[in-house]
Formats: sequence, C-alpha cells, structure tokens
Amino acid sequence: MKIHFVTSEALPFSKTGGLADVIFGLSSALCKKEISSIVVSPLYSDIDFSSFEKVCSLPITMNWRQLVADIYRTNINGVDYFFIGNDYYFKREKIYGYDDEIERFAFFNLSYIEMIKRLNIRPDIVSVHDWETAMIPLLLKHNNLNFKTILTIHNPAFQGSSHSGALYDYFNLPYEYFENGTCRFHDYFSCLKTGIVTCDVLTTVSKTHAKELLNDLVSFNGLGHIIKLRKKNFVGITNGLDYEEFNPASDEYIEYPYDLTTVFPEKQMNQDFLLDSIRFKKDGAVFGIISRLTEQKGLDILPLVIDKIIKENAKLIVLGSGQPQYERIIEGLSKKYPKNIFYYCGYSNSFAHKIYASCDFLLMPSRYEPCGLSQLVAKRYGTIPIVSNVGGLVDTVVPYRKEKAINKADGIVFDISKEEEFVKAIDLAFIVYNDKSTLKKLIKNAMNYKSSWNDTVVSYITLYKKIYFAFTWWRRYLRRPFN
Ligand code: GLC
Repeated sequence: MKIHFVTSEALPFSKTGGLADVIFGLSSALCKKEISSIVVSPLYSDIDFSSFEKVCSLPITMNWRQLVADIYRTNINGVDYFFIGNDYYFKREKIYGYDDEIERFAFFNLSYIEMIKRLNIRPDIVSVHDWETAMIPLLLKHNNLNFKTILTIHNPAFQGSSHSGALYDYFNLPYEYFENGTCRFHDYFSCLKTGIVTCDVLTTVSKTHAKELLNDLVSFNGLGHIIKLRKKNFVGITNGLDYEEFNPASDEYIEYPYDLTTVFPEKQMNQDFLLDSIRFKKDGAVFGIISRLTEQKGLDILPLVIDKIIKENAKLIVLGSGQPQYERIIEGLSKKYPKNIFYYCGYSNSFAHKIYASCDFLLMPSRYEPCGLSQLVAKRYGTIPIVSNVGGLVDTVVPYRKEKAINKADGIVFDISKEEEFVKAIDLAFIVYNDKSTLKKLIKNAMNYKSSWNDTVVSYITLYKKIYFAFTWWRRYLRRPFN
C-alpha cells in the first residue's frame, strides 16, 4: 500500500502551523510500520535544495498559461519527499498571504496530477489537506485517475474561495462543475467545499471537532451543512505527537533535561534558568503561551485574567506572532507590567522548548481547535495545560476538578462560551499551584499520557486498509470474467 501526502507544508522543510507537524509525524510513523508513503509539497524559497535530486521538469498547462514545474526529490528517515518548484509561484518571502493564492495552489495541484501521470509513482491512496490541496480529488476524477482520496480538514476557517471563473481559468475544469453544485458554495467557488463533496473519505483531526463540524451549522460559513452530506464517510482521528522532537529527557534546547524520575526538581531548575535569562524574579507561578496570534486562539480574553496574575505576582511568558491587533494587546500588557509579562514577538524553536520545559501552566483559550499540538507538548514536559472546552483540547486534556478525585486528571478545562469561566480556571490554577501534592500528581499524570504518533498511527492504518481493501476487492470483482 502506498500513500501520497499532498500538502502545502511539511516539516522539516516548511511550517506555519500544526499541519506541517502532522505530515512529518504521520509519514514517519507509517514508515516505521512498513507502510510506504511519499510527501509532495511546494519548493518554497527558504528550502535549501542544493542536495536534492532533480527528477525532471514538467510542462504544465493552466488555461492559456504554459508553465514549468521543476520536480526535486530527497529522503528523510525513509520517506521520499517530492518538491514542486516554480520561482514565480513559490520563490516568495512567505508561504501564504498573497492575492493570487488560488492560482498558486492550483498550479501545485495541477503539477501533482501531471507528476502521477508521467512519473512512476502511482499511489493507492492520495491524502490531501485543507483547501490548498482539496481540488485534487476532483482533478483526479476529471482526468480519469481512479485513486482513492482522503481529505483531512485541519482548519475549516480557510476555504479557498473565489469567483466561479477560477475553475476554468486556474484548474482547467469546465463551468459545469459550478453549475451542478460540485464546486459552488453559496454564490462562489470554494476549494474546500469541492474537496468535501468529491473525496472518498473525509477526516478531521479529533473526534470532538468532527462532532462540532457536524452539529454546528452556522460557523465557518455554514460548512456543517455540506459536511453533513458526507456523514457516513467522515471520521475524526486525533493527531499524535513526535516523541523524538519533543522529549524532555533528550531536549538539546533545555538546560536541564529530565524525565518522570527527575522532573522534581529539574523542571524547577529549568524555570529558574529561564526566569534569570529574561531577568524576572524567581517567585510565583509561571504561565506560558506559545501560539499563532489569530482570532482562533482566543487571546482577546487574556486581559480578563491579568489583574489576578499580577496580584499573585505570577509571570506570563508569551511567544508568537500573527494578527497585529493581538500582537498589540500582548505588547501593551508586557509594557504595562514589565516585571511580570514577557513577550517574544515572532517564533523561536529553542525558546518554545524552553517555555514548555519551564512553565507551570500553558494557556490555550482557543475559540475552536481542531486538534491542537501545544497541549500535547506541554503535557509531555509536565506543564499543566489550561484549555477551553473545544475540539481536540477536550479529547486530549483530562480535567481536574477540585471536588473530584484526581485519578487521571492532567489539566484544567473551562467553558469558552462563558468568559468568567476563564477567570475561574486561573483561580483553580493558583489553588493547584499552592497545593504542591496536587500539582505533582497532575504533572505525573500529564507526563504519563500517551500521545505518540507510534500509537495514534494505528487508527490511520485501519482507515487506509479499509479503503484499500474495499477498492482492490471492487477492482478484482469488476475484472472477473462473466460466466
Ligand atoms: C490546524 C489546527 C490545529 C491542529 C493542526 C494540525 O493548525 O488549528 O488545531 O492541531 O491544524 O492538525
């Protein structure tokens, strides 16, 4: 069985969000289970391809445009990575954020179709991700390439919407697909909607988010109405974590690596070291935030708990960048309370690892969260996640409640629909912080939680086998001579 992951980003070469981690983690875990897969992604400008093998250059026709896709290949831990290069579309400063986004990814989608027509790399299953590759199931069918397809939704808010002319202009597809509703969403053309109705199996990245998408008919432009049509072929599979990249026992970025047997006092030593390095006093609880600063992440409610944090002389360390209005909120807070709030605007992998290892709590007040990665990393490092009750956060954090026995509890979960609940969650965090035996139990539970890709990959393998065997059975059946 051969899986093709076609994706707009993939570690270790490109990343803006969790999608890149998923592709890397899932394809590597499959390889360990001897299921072969390849990853296909664009060749962005900051990818050093000097050591890659140049496979070929393919002519790509996009309506009136005659273009060229340069195909490169390399291998990472047994997984072949193919890159589609085109200076005009991909040699730019950022991965996303341009006016011609649909055209850029249409080129990527068309190039992939051309690749499987011309190169000897035929898949059994094509796994596509979010709107950027969601047109591939239809493009395959339209080109009579009958491979099974899975579309995974990582972020339903981005849908790749455009005017109906884009269908012909960029994807070489007839207007008929708009007229018959395949590609139409409300009055416009939508790549994500097209993918949802044309893929063989639809997935998202946690069970609770799958339920949310089916039941919420209002959010995300009413995408739930479309997803409901695919109810029978729609599942949620929770993402895993790369246990090699995130391992407190062998983490090169942290001063005092630790495991369950040495977490006390080594976690505290990491905290002291980090506070020293940012010239903060070593007293009080330490909260961390590592996040893209977008509406999704709910950081607009942060000011609600700042008074409390200051009153308790706690510290808050924030790492991330994104929409200017959220950057301004955090920048403003760090200027107002320079002894308690530290803001690193941007991204630093090394600083992120230090925060995971050093903080007592990690805040994730997301408005929606298809899966979420930071809470999994936090737990592996014995940092207690404080999360809203949405999507994958519900599935991966076991809530601690004061009145109940701890059992497997390893985090604090609050209802994001009531803002005062966030304040109560912070109150509870301080209670936990001041009761060291409870804190220690939660830390142990968090560190004991199993979320490695090596475990979670099993659900994907079951799904792939189901699709693959159903398909080969039909193929064999259809080829059988009639008697
Ligand atoms: C998106 C989602 C996030 C998820 C990630 C990987 O970034 O917002 O919740 O963990 O994709 O699936």
